[in-house]
Amino acid sequence: MPPEAGNAVPAILAALRLGTADLHRRLEARLPFFSAQLDRDYYRRLLMAYYGFHAPLEQALAAHVGALDPARRAKTPTLIRDLQALGLAPAQIAALPRCEVIPLIRCEDSALGAMYVIEGATLGGQVLKRAMAERLHIDAGNGGAFLDVYGQATGPLWRSFLGFLASAVTRPQQHEVVVAAAIDTFSSFERWLDAQEVLL
Ligand code: HEM
Repeated sequence: MPPEAGNAVPAILAALRLGTADLHRRLEARLPFFSAQLDRDYYRRLLMAYYGFHAPLEQALAAHVGALDPARRAKTPTLIRDLQALGLAPAQIAALPRCEVIPLIRCEDSALGAMYVIEGATLGGQVLKRAMAERLHIDAGNGGAFLDVYGQATGPLWRSFLGFLASAVTRPQQHEVVVAAAIDTFSSFERWLDAQEVLL
């Protein structure tokens, strides 16, 4: 159900999908959300690892995507709330390891490539939210708010991101930078999650 259904897919979106589809499939297969091994403790470790990637990446992005209201799209505060709901004290959260090799964000184009990945993940979050509620009884009030971080605004925020992306990335020369940043974001995230030992 592509949210831009009815319109032609902008060239940059087509390039991003083509460039990252395999990486998405691989990461999806290695994430434990649907694994029999997943229990509350594993889920909590997974969220700790998500925090360790999103916190530095969001910081790096903020300076380059002012037009997209990064404060509105910040996911780190929600991750902190979830981790507290799962029993971590604020001092424990502040001391969590953070990824030091986040994707290199040095211009709006590379920021947009990285944002494609973390904004797109809110779509998959809709599936994961239902799965975690069924399997672990985790919902927005007890550790699962991140999976539905935008709530009712998920569709509108995704569409507004796509609109901005299409208006900002019009030259074919930009494509390479945007797609490389998206690939780098998927790869760094997978490497980080792997190093935190939360992947299958
Ligand atoms: C088990 C975990 C995951 C599942 C089940 C999943 C599932 C999905 C689904 C169903 C969509 C399509 C939604 C739609 O078209 O309405 C989607 C889109 C997307 N997901 Fe995931 N996802 C998962 C993890 C991730 C992660 C970890 C990331 C990145 C950090 C990610 C990035 C994306 C992106 C960028 C899109 C947008 C693709 C596009 O429309 O261009 N996903 N995911």
